[in-house]
Amino acid sequence: MVDSNDIHRHSLQRKRPSWVSTVVVQVLLCVAFYVAITVWFPRARSRNTELFKRKNGISDIFVARSTDLYFLSVRGGSRPVHSQTQLLQQMEIVAKNIDVKFILDLSEVGENDPLLQNATQHYPSLNMLWYATGNGKNGNEGYLLKQFALSHGQSLDIIILDMESWKNAEHKEEGNLSYTSQMDWLKKSLAESDSNWRVILGYDPVIDCEEHLEERRRNLKAYHILRDVFLKHKVNVYLSKMGCAGRYFQYSGMAYIGNPSYHVETNTTREEEATNDDMFLLHRVNPLEIETYFIDSSGEVVSRHTLSQWGNSVL
Ligand SMILES: *[C@@H]1O[C@H](CO)[C@@H](O)[C@H](O)[C@H]1NC(C)=O
Ligand SMILES: *[C@@H]1O[C@H](CO)[C@@H](O)[C@H](O)[C@H]1NC(C)=O
Ligand SMILES: *[C@@H]1O[C@H](CO)[C@@H](O)[C@H](O)[C@H]1NC(C)=O
Repeated sequence: MVDSNDIHRHSLQRKRPSWVSTVVVQVLLCVAFYVAITVWFPRARSRNTELFKRKNGISDIFVARSTDLYFLSVRGGSRPVHSQTQLLQQMEIVAKNIDVKFILDLSEVGENDPLLQNATQHYPSLNMLWYATGNGKNGNEGYLLKQFALSHGQSLDIIILDMESWKNAEHKEEGNLSYTSQMDWLKKSLAESDSNWRVILGYDPVIDCEEHLEERRRNLKAYHILRDVFLKHKVNVYLSKMGCAGRYFQYSGMAYIGNPSYHVETNTTREEEATNDDMFLLHRVNPLEIETYFIDSSGEVVSRHTLSQWGNSVL
């Protein structure tokens, strides 16, 4: 057995370094300090300014706060290789600089999505937790709920829906069946959860616009029921691919967010949104607000939106 007094005595008996080595150490520390100041500080400053380029009057410098939760969302699918590379490179810059918890992928084919596959194989910073829509096509149930902790004991629910079975809800019997069981699950999940924020991801937009009524008529009833469920349970965000309501449509306490993609798929009448811009979204969540940054594949913040909790919106 080793006596602890022995250890104590032994350490006291160690030779003190001579004054020569003390001076050498101090000189080395000064040099290291100088190098740290000149090399690290300019870098630290440029990390914040280089993260995004800013446009359209967004003038504040982005500073990630460790108390906030960050996630990305992106429209999956296949793109020409150079467009895909540009987009993934910008997503990687953000993921390298901000502690992004997960990525939401608006995909038609779940985890088989080519963007997801390429990102997780070729971009180490993007090799993280991805949640993709369209997993129902891989024989899974296709819908799920994940809960994430926020500061101050709050929490965020991420709900992934499988819209595939809803498309024919009013026609095919089997479509109606899986639609009904999913809807029951959604209502139950929302009623039982006491999370402060509810973000729902579904591939298809559920807002109807007049110019699209005809082609969307078959889905109207199901989407209308869904929107009522959102309102009843105070859902905060519904994320989908971009539809005729554009990139960000706020109604009451809720935001309908459309992820734009490489292809123009909507016949939008809004000039600024009728572009070919490929984008991904950065979402910041804290107990007070959800902030959404639309970032294009050149790294410019195209727009930024802030959503408060239900009942706290400032009009
Ligand atoms: C995946 O990404 C890498 C790097 O950007 C690129 O060279 C490659 O062509 C991509 N592969 C596919 C199938 O898109
Ligand atoms: C599904 O079928 C049930 C019963 O047949 C019906 O009440 C319900 O409205 C249908 N759902 C939709 C979205 O049409
Ligand atoms: C877009 O809508 C306008 C008016 O509704 C129509 O004339 C035009 O053909 C549409 N374009 C496409 C590409 O669908």
